[in-house]
Amino acid sequence: MRKPIIAGNWKMNKTPAQAAELVKELIPGVKDALCDVVVCVPATDFAAVKEAAQGSNIHLGAQNVHFAQSGAYTGELSPEMLKACGVEYVIIGHSERRQYFGETDRTVNLRVKAAVEAGLIPILCVGEMKEERERGYTDALVEYQTLIALNGLTDAQIQNLVIAYEPVWAIGTGLVATDEQANETIGVIRKAIGHKYGQAVAEAVRIQYGGSMNPGNVKGLMAQPEIDGGLIGGASLKAPDFTAVVMYHK
Ligand code: 13P
Repeated sequence: MRKPIIAGNWKMNKTPAQAAELVKELIPGVKDALCDVVVCVPATDFAAVKEAAQGSNIHLGAQNVHFAQSGAYTGELSPEMLKACGVEYVIIGHSERRQYFGETDRTVNLRVKAAVEAGLIPILCVGEMKEERERGYTDALVEYQTLIALNGLTDAQIQNLVIAYEPVWAIGTGLVATDEQANETIGVIRKAIGHKYGQAVAEAVRIQYGGSMNPGNVKGLMAQPEIDGGLIGGASLKAPDFTAVVMYHK
């Protein structure tokens, strides 16, 4: 059985003081969660979140990582730097990075490999745009994005990482994929991994849904057999909402 994992993606929100306050508000509500709980925060909040989350079941995540160890890459952070700050998880290939910052499937693959080699757990994001779904390209696209991103990794490394299926049209729009749509596309991703890496790897890898997930729709999504958790944007910024999503089983 795969342990569910629910992660907040705070995106470009929260100062260190606000971050510490949010984490402190979350701790009592999520302490009995049956899933892994992660908050992926801006790098400027790492220290504040690490300190506030001490002794709790809330794990620290980042929102991007560079693939080089060090060097002339202004504005970037290496895997080792994240590790040194206590980061355990890192979102890679989020659609906002693909859309606004020139992220490609090739750089996503480099980042995933570098993260895994440093002992970070990637949360690899894949997903189609609205017109790609309308034209019937969803399955081919998510398969392609997934397999390129995982290229060069061992079976053991793949089993241990997390994938987030985020249809771009559902992010921040209030439009949510139906439970069945999300389940079906996540099944397509899992099947593609099974074809290339074998059934055992496919059965072990955790695949989240992301895109306007909130306290109102989490139960239906989490009841689907292929959906192993959520990557939560807007609803992760308010303690009551994120707590309700994490405690979806209550
Ligand atoms: P929303 O939950 O705000 O739609 O964002 C989803 C997302 O992009 C998480 O990475």
